[in-house]
Amino acid sequence: MKDYKKRILITGGAGFIGSHAVRHFVNKYPEYLIVNLDKLTYAGNLMNLRDVENKPNYRFVKGDITDYDTVKKVFDDYGIDTVIHFAAESHVDRSIENPDDFVKTNVLGTVNLLNAAKSSWKDYEGKTFYHISTDEVYGSLGDTGKFTEQTPYDPHSPYSASKAASDHFVRAYYHTYGLPVVISNASNNYGPYQFPEKLIPLIINNILEQKPLPVYGKGENVRDWLYVEDHVKGIDTVLHKGKKGETYNIGGENERKNIEVVEKLCEITDELTGRTPGESKKLIRFVKDRAGHDWRYALDISKIKNELGWRPETDFDEGLRKTVRWYLDNKEWLDNVTSGEYRHYYERMYKNRGV
Ligand code: NAD
Ligand code: TYD
Repeated sequence: MKDYKKRILITGGAGFIGSHAVRHFVNKYPEYLIVNLDKLTYAGNLMNLRDVENKPNYRFVKGDITDYDTVKKVFDDYGIDTVIHFAAESHVDRSIENPDDFVKTNVLGTVNLLNAAKSSWKDYEGKTFYHISTDEVYGSLGDTGKFTEQTPYDPHSPYSASKAASDHFVRAYYHTYGLPVVISNASNNYGPYQFPEKLIPLIINNILEQKPLPVYGKGENVRDWLYVEDHVKGIDTVLHKGKKGETYNIGGENERKNIEVVEKLCEITDELTGRTPGESKKLIRFVKDRAGHDWRYALDISKIKNELGWRPETDFDEGLRKTVRWYLDNKEWLDNVTSGEYRHYYERMYKNRGV
């Protein structure tokens, strides 16, 4: 086996955040081997990884984390010493429609990975199991306050319940077996390569197609938006400097009402496509609210700032512009992911919302 300094298994590396992480680690650390294990569900796409697919320190394995033998074989074949675990079912609306896959992938899949690490690693020297989680495990805030790493878990959606369960298993393996784990809980990510089921790329796609822009309820729910590349730098920081057994919040310090985000996207897209200012805003529709819609998420990120020296760098306006520009420049990608299954998904989800 070649003498790589780390042999990292990235799960879910063909998805949105995972593909940015793969690109970051493959390019920044040629001395690390990066093995990407991904099932290529509707959310996974090898087009996201074209620029790294021929790099000498990169390998792709198509496989399902819910299958223990597949996972164990990857550990054995590549001598994995580090895991960065992204693979998940990640969309709240889909979890409301059908929670089962969320339990399978997010809970059972995570436990499989923990078991594979526990049985493959004879000692824990130089090993890390890094679990990627979300701020949604903390529940929902009112108009004030922020989630800290001490906030008790109170997940509300099937998605956040499954992520909370997986976080608990990761911590249980630390306390019970001493597995060297670390967890980070991030706020809402946005940027290139995000599947257009999530708010920002869905709105960009609908503006480009001149379709109605569905805003749930009154559009007053608040999310804390984090540019995906800032998140990946945060993950790099936690991997290299984080303390085992600890949790770190990674947020954008950037709270916005949904309606504000949608209006900003309309303005930027009108400007970048040369449309008449105000044209796209006419497409906004207030539609039936999401069941159990969490009101507000906001993360206190003092711990990662003070202890590890990471902070978000991308200004929201600049991040949104980069994102819109990427979707405009990558029509082929967008056409590819919005053909086929996506059309059925959109029909199912939005017809009964009246759009
Ligand atoms: P995504 O849905 O874009 O990608 C998920 C990836 O996992 C896809 O490539 C998919 O093919 C793969 N996958 C799904 N089931 C699998 C299975 N059984 N076996 C192997 N691979 C499988 O998700 P994302 O938005 O990139 O999120 C990645 C991680 O970050 C998730 O764990 C999510 O909970 C967490 N997270 C996301 C956000 C966000 O705003 N998107 C915020 C905080 C945390
Ligand atoms: P989403 O991108 O699904 O992320 P999450 O639910 O994990 O925060 O949604 C972000 C916010 O946007 C959330 O408050 C729900 C809202 N939303 C809409 O108003 N319309 C939509 O079509 C979608 C997908 C989301």
